[in-house]
Amino acid sequence: MELLKSLFILFTFIAIAVHSQLTDESWWKTANIYQISPLSFKDSDDDGKGDIKGIISKLDYFVETGINVLLITPFFETNMVDFAYDVTNYVKVDETFGTMSDIEELFAKAKEKNLRIILDFVPNHTSNRHEWFLNSEISVSEYENFYVWHDGIPQKNDGQPLPPNNWTSEYGGSSWKWNAMREAYYYHKFAEAQPDLNLREEKVIQKLNEVLKFWIDKGADGFRINAVSQLFEDAAFLEKSDIEINLPQTYELIERWRALIDEYSSGKVLIPQVWNSPIADLMRYYQNDDGSKQRAQIPMNFMLINELTATSNASEFKRVIESYTSALPEGAIANWLLGSHDHNRVASRMGKEKIDGLMILLQTLPGISFNFYGDEIGMEDYMDISWEDTMDIQACNADQNDFKRFSRDVARTPFQWDNSTNAGFSSGKPWLPVNPSYIENNLDAQIKTNRSHYKLFKELLVLRKNETFIKGDLNIQALNTNVLGYSRSYNGNSFIIAINLNNTHETVDASVLNVKFGDESEIYLASSDSSYNSGDIVNVKNLHLMPYDAVIIKYSSATKITLSLLTAMMMIVKIFL
Ligand code: NOJ
Ligand code: MG
Repeated sequence: MELLKSLFILFTFIAIAVHSQLTDESWWKTANIYQISPLSFKDSDDDGKGDIKGIISKLDYFVETGINVLLITPFFETNMVDFAYDVTNYVKVDETFGTMSDIEELFAKAKEKNLRIILDFVPNHTSNRHEWFLNSEISVSEYENFYVWHDGIPQKNDGQPLPPNNWTSEYGGSSWKWNAMREAYYYHKFAEAQPDLNLREEKVIQKLNEVLKFWIDKGADGFRINAVSQLFEDAAFLEKSDIEINLPQTYELIERWRALIDEYSSGKVLIPQVWNSPIADLMRYYQNDDGSKQRAQIPMNFMLINELTATSNASEFKRVIESYTSALPEGAIANWLLGSHDHNRVASRMGKEKIDGLMILLQTLPGISFNFYGDEIGMEDYMDISWEDTMDIQACNADQNDFKRFSRDVARTPFQWDNSTNAGFSSGKPWLPVNPSYIENNLDAQIKTNRSHYKLFKELLVLRKNETFIKGDLNIQALNTNVLGYSRSYNGNSFIIAINLNNTHETVDASVLNVKFGDESEIYLASSDSSYNSGDIVNVKNLHLMPYDAVIIKYSSATKITLSLLTAMMMIVKIFL
């Protein structure tokens, strides 16, 4: 079996070599993207807040792990009301995170190590301390229409007008805030401190275009585009029963930005954050209806988060995955996400026993995977966070007795590097408490043990580079109520993946996925708690799975030939003995 494994590794290297010949411009098509929330990743100066130098100090970690793209959420100058999503200057680095020269160093060092960097572009709103807003609220003519202003509904008694309509903010309450200076309401889809930009004003677009070019010049490989579905509101301010998202103007703007990045540079990507939208809307972010105009390459697919829960069964997984893959326009690349700084951690949301199975799913479905920092070690939500320690505006705006339901802090705790003070994140007081689980669950411990979430994750990133996973088809079935199965096949090579989603012993016939697999199939990888080891031979027709077992089984014509040769040799040896 060792020989077979070496052969397979050799093939993998050949595949990687072929793959690296993919034109430089399509680097993103096979990306695994690692999302870093800089505040919580690694602190370099002991102020308890993660920073750019902290990220630089961990670049080898990404290389070692097999990550190829970093997505860094905002580090721009900010008033820090919403995890730095309230920007006061798009082309400055906030001192919490470091300096412009730190960022330049990050770009340079990442490049040396072949790591791509995606930045988070926040065009929906600025901070209310942004210079543009300060000018707009005093009606400086250049900036007068930079935001969504409305005089409100006049009252008979001449008092302060009423808000223009019933629109509500994501963080609760009306989305209209009275501004005494301008004597008008401004619109804020998110916090009061985050006034929405008026993207119908050409001057605003021009300013934002400059921001994109600025960061491309610095070395950015692309942009996540924050809160894309909310970029435009009904121009007539009509009250609607449903929340209005993904207005037609949004797609036109994305199309414009795509044209801009393509003209200005090459191989840059757009990653719109399209959250909780109908699937048809999501697909429209790839290209226009007749396919003549390209929009974004990677509209973020939140379906695995939005549509599946801890109790979803195998058919529900199949339905959600296929409803997405079957809707993709011709030539579009799929992408998958199981975690973000806006959701409960996948290990907590779906059940921590399932983390390996879900990571296998994330890395072996066709297309791009997004990985939220810490999910590679199965970090969990920190539910014991106190009201005093609460930082997230969404939780702060909620009721003190019920804030945890809204808290995104629980998933934003510092990365658990090792079991030293503050999990090795900082020797200062962390801006958000470290999850006490770090004593047991940390990267260092997972590197030191034989089998762990991290070790599996790392092997999965190698496996992703195999041609079968890059180009292979997807055949997905519920093998029974609890076992999700699928095969990936390309050019005579196939893998079968079987994931037991439940706390039960299961026996399934996984050969329905690919008839070539039989009683001599080999476990290539198994979840870290599984009783299976890599190299075990199994009968796919009668595959036993322990609770939450997840396995990747391999078939290759080469394996088959070698196996038959070995069997023949054994028989000859037997005859002569
Ligand atoms: C989406 C971001 O992901 C979230 O964290 C933020 O609070 C809102 N947009 C507002 O910027
Ligand atoms: Mg710091």
